[in-house]
Amino acid sequence: MMRPMKLAGSELMFGRGCLEYIHKIPEKRVFIVIGGSSMEKNGILAKVENLFHDNGAETAVFRGVEPDPSFKTVLKGAAEMLKFEPDLIVGLGGGSVMDAGKAMWVCYEHPEIQTLDQLLTANPFPKLRQKARYLCIPTTAGTASEVSRSVVITDDEKGLKHGLGNMEMMPDIAIDDPEVTIFLPPHITAETGMDALTHALEALVSNRANYLSDILAVPAALDIIRTLPIAYANGKDMDAREMMLNASMTAGLAFTNVSLGIVHSLAQTIGGYFHISHGLADAIILPYIIRYNAVVPYADKKYHDLAAKFGKTDLSEIVDDLNRRLHIPSTLREPLQEEARFESLIPEMAVTAKNDGCTKTNPIIPDVNEFAELLKRCYYGEEK
Ligand SMILES: [Fe+2]
Repeated sequence: MMRPMKLAGSELMFGRGCLEYIHKIPEKRVFIVIGGSSMEKNGILAKVENLFHDNGAETAVFRGVEPDPSFKTVLKGAAEMLKFEPDLIVGLGGGSVMDAGKAMWVCYEHPEIQTLDQLLTANPFPKLRQKARYLCIPTTAGTASEVSRSVVITDDEKGLKHGLGNMEMMPDIAIDDPEVTIFLPPHITAETGMDALTHALEALVSNRANYLSDILAVPAALDIIRTLPIAYANGKDMDAREMMLNASMTAGLAFTNVSLGIVHSLAQTIGGYFHISHGLADAIILPYIIRYNAVVPYADKKYHDLAAKFGKTDLSEIVDDLNRRLHIPSTLREPLQEEARFESLIPEMAVTAKNDGCTKTNPIIPDVNEFAELLKRCYYGEEK
């Protein structure tokens, strides 16, 4: 039986200028979570705070969520929330910031959660919204954490990434205003955009895909393929930025309901062992997995139908071409030059990828040996 679909939280705003929607938000104690200093330098943090101040709200800012946020950072943010006692939490940034904000929210509402293990194994999932609601303002067009129920948090000891999903963590409000994405540098635009494309294509061929998720995933994929090179070449092109953010959000609406596939199993696994951005890992792995999944007739048909919109027959070639235009390498060997370490970790990474939560919704479920083979293929290319 299908699982119930939920499309975002209670309020979903998108389009140029929709940041002004903050004026309609009634909460008065607002705790804003950000990453590095870019939101301060480019003036977006001040703009967001001023909109809340116009409402008579008081704001506090938590700075310094790192890429691949650790549970230590989550606890630090939650401790500051316990002092400030917000009734609204705002995640203002990319996926790492929005994810960290969600996890901080859980620990703020439930201070008894003191370890990552307690968070990951909480059953039933803790009830939220007794103290605060959660608002996300994405500054990248990629992770769609603003419309997803998932978080990825890294443990403090081994540095491994752990995914957790529950509808309780769906942000109450998402504000997708393209004007806050125009400062993104080209390589981050490219990598986060390829993450969004991977979300659309993995939701499309998920073994849980349905009529409604397809309606969301297909145009998201088409729009990203057409628009990402434009946003990459000219970050100030507001039409392209708007299209990318809308498409990323729409891909998110699809994948948060029908889940993802083994591009994410592999990218999340590799990202736990090596320093590589999530979007870059997705981008490199995606064409290999399209070719691997194409042995499944329904996946092959969906890929083929999409490629036909571009007058082509092979979707993986379209993705290869897109990667070339975005200056993304064709194998993992280029960004990850520690070949001996990669080779030695293949057996362990194959097991981790097999156990990843995204594996079970891929059209074909590889065994551990096949995962090892796929890791080699993505590292060396298909010739070897
Ligand atoms: Fe992703």
